[in-house]
Formats: sequence, structure tokens, C-alpha cells
Amino acid sequence: MKLWGGRFESGSSEAFERFSGSLRFDRKLVSADIEGSRAFARALARAGIVTEAECRQLLAAFDEIAREAESPDYFQGAEDEDIHTFVIRKLGEKAGAVSAKIHTGRSRNEQVSSDIRLYLRSAADTILQQIADFCEALLALARKYPDAVIPGYTHLRRAQAVLWPHYLLAYFEMFERDYERMQQARGRINVMPLGAGALAGSGFGFDRQAIARELNFAAITRNSMDASGDRDFALDFLYASSVILLHLSRLAEDWILYSSEEFRWMALGDGVTSGSSLMPQKKNPDSLELMRGKSGRVFGALTSLFVTMKGLPMTYNRDMQEDKEPLFEAFEQTSGSLAMAKVVAESVTLDRARPAEAAEESWVVATDLAEELARSGVPFHRAHQLVGQLVLESFKANKRPGDWTPETLAAFAPEFKPGMARLLHPAEGMRTRELPGGTGPAAVAAALEQAEQRLAAMRSGGTQA
Ligand code: ARG
Repeated sequence: MKLWGGRFESGSSEAFERFSGSLRFDRKLVSADIEGSRAFARALARAGIVTEAECRQLLAAFDEIAREAESPDYFQGAEDEDIHTFVIRKLGEKAGAVSAKIHTGRSRNEQVSSDIRLYLRSAADTILQQIADFCEALLALARKYPDAVIPGYTHLRRAQAVLWPHYLLAYFEMFERDYERMQQARGRINVMPLGAGALAGSGFGFDRQAIARELNFAAITRNSMDASGDRDFALDFLYASSVILLHLSRLAEDWILYSSEEFRWMALGDGVTSGSSLMPQKKNPDSLELMRGKSGRVFGALTSLFVTMKGLPMTYNRDMQEDKEPLFEAFEQTSGSLAMAKVVAESVTLDRARPAEAAEESWVVATDLAEELARSGVPFHRAHQLVGQLVLESFKANKRPGDWTPETLAAFAPEFKPGMARLLHPAEGMRTRELPGGTGPAAVAAALEQAEQRLAAMRSGGTQA
């Protein structure tokens, strides 16, 4: 079925129908389309275009379609141009003549925008919930090993020691920002376009605020041309999703490394790893690799819609139909990856001894020593030089930091006072980093506490945009 045709003398070519039809993917919008159309039917009644009785008839038919649409083969054999056409055809089958009034003063241009907004609003809610669930798993993993010491890296070279919870709280920060970003996207999504018509505003004086209230939209679009041509809200969703995947991908990379035989800091649960069909000893981190891999698909979705929208003249253009598959794809992969990440985090066990040993045997204490010298009055530049020489000497003599004693240190350079030798142990240096945001044990305990509170705020809707 088509919702147009009067001005055509012959029908569409098969090639065009196949090329332009979107029902095979936009069927995912069926409940959003019905929800929006129900609200629109009531708007038609308020505007006196259908009677109350006709409106009830339409609503009953929509309910029936919604119920039937739950069946997996509901769309079998359907040849309608898109989901909007499909729903209207079904409406005709159920409600008869009155169905011909449902599209009064309405364009598919505003309808598709409304449908996508409803779909994305609930997608955003799912993602928000999943971010909070994953953040909870991160905090649980942090609390499991509150005082474990690991080397922190820059350039993938051991840099300074940090506490395990401090490391995980860095990811908490990233995912909390993702939460905020997704909330902001939700705010942009949650605006009601119906009444915009094709581009110029509907010729019927619909109470747009009432439609918005019924559909729980926070506001109405302010300009009909913008409403018709805008997909910024979809780009916002894709960008927010992309940054989530970027963060998951970096976490995946960390944990693939940390669970490797080269590191052996952590073990991933059997439930999230797989074996090799040939090599019996293998336990591969496929869950994390796939998370890292799927990021490419989500970034691809963002890029795809970006490029689609670039250069489109005002207002709606059919190119915009290409927004749907990237959106569905991004939602599916983002949601799937967050669900996986939570299960992986719950499966992780840390071998505290190995990262602690890695910190002990390397010179992650060098900065602590140099700073202690500076606190004792040695100009930092000189202190840096001195500790650099100590490190060089240690490499030559094959000494670990812990091999130095107060006496041998003082003999190396008189600036090293006896009390400074305690800083040769990584856990000591951390005690000097108690300022807010640092890895000092008290600062980290406080940060963990605050993170718990912020998680609770996320749970209760947080800073809902
Ligand atoms: N199926 C179209 C889309 O997804 C909506 C219909 C608007 N089509 C049109 N020719 N004005 O964007």
C-alpha cells in the first residue's frame, strides 16, 4: 500500500519499490508509530476532525494492531512502503472508513521524527540504566581489593604506583560522564515534533502541548522546518553511544593486557572467555575483544549519519530514511556491550601479589623520592637529576629500589636523609598523594564513598536533562 498516488499515471517500478522501501528495517518502530498515532487520533478528536466515537474506534484498532505486532511473523509478506503505511493499512482493515481520516494534517516527515524520538528515548533510558549497572560492578570490583597496589602507566611504561580502586575510579569518572552525555542526548530527543506538518506547520490547529503531554515529551519543537529537517538528536544519541564504546574499548584493551600471560595480574571468569579449537591450553578474552571490536560499528553508525546529513538542503529529504539502520545498530551494540562489560567486571579476580611485585621491581617510586627531596629543600630540578642518576646506577648494578638502604642511599648522595628510604616502597609514596583526586589511601577511600553517592544519584534519575 501507498499513502500517495493520485498524481501518478503509472505505478512504481519494482526496482524503485525494492530500493526505497524501508519496512524491512523500520518495522522496529511499530510500537512508537502506534503510540504517536494514538496521541494524534486524540488530537484529531480534540480538533473536531473525528468524533469521540470515531476516536474510540481508532484507538481500539491501534490497540489490536499493537497486540498483533508482538507476533514475530506479523510483517510476513507485507509490501508496504514503510512502517507508517503499514500501520495505516492495518488500521483500515480494522477500523474501516474512519481510518482514512487519521492522516489529516499530518505528514510522514513529522511522524518519522516523532517515532524515532520515542524509540530513542526508551533506548536512552535502557542505556542509562545499563551504565549505572556497570558502574555498580566497577565499584564492587574496587571494594574487593581496596588496598591493592598496581603500577600506573604512561606510554605503557610503568610510571607511578596507584591503588587498584583509584584505577577503577578513573573508569567510573568516564562512565559517569557517559551517563551525563546520554542524559543530555535524551533531553534533545525528548521534544515533540507533531504539528509541524511536512515542513510548514499543520493546517489544523492542533493543541500541540496536549499531544506532548500525552506522549510525555518535555517540550514541543519551535520551528516546523527545523522539526522536519532535524536529526541532531539522533546524532547526539550516536555520539553519546560512541563515547561509551570508546571507553569500553579502552577498558577492554587494559584487561586483555592485564589478564595476559605477560602481565598475569587478573583472571577473567570462564564464563566470559573461550578456548581454541586447536590449542588446548588457550583461554581467550573474546568478550573483551568483541567489545573493543564493536566500537568500530558504533563509530561507523555515527559517521554514517553524519555524512548522510551533510549538505542536505532544508528540510526533509529522503536521504534521511538512512538514519534508522545506524541508530538501531548503535543501540543494539551499545546495549549488548554494556551488558557484557558488567558480566566481565563481575567475573574478574585480581592477583594482588603480581602487580604489587611489578611496582616493587620497577622504579615507580622515583617521583616519590624526587618529591621528598624537594620537600626537604633540594630544588626539584636537582632532585630529579639525582634520582635519575640513582636509577641509572641501579640499572647498571642490577639493583631494585628495595635493595637500597638508608645508609647506601646516603652514601650515594648526602641529600638523601635516612627517613627517605621508606619511599623506596611503592605503598609509601602514595601516602604523599592525599590531595583530592590523588591516589593517597584516604583520598581514594573518600573518592569511593563519593562515587557510591553519585551512583545512587544516577539510580534516582541523577541530573536528568
Ligand atoms: N520512510 C521515510 C523515512 O524513514 C518517512 C516517509 C517520508 N517520506 C517522504 N517521501 N516524505 O524517512
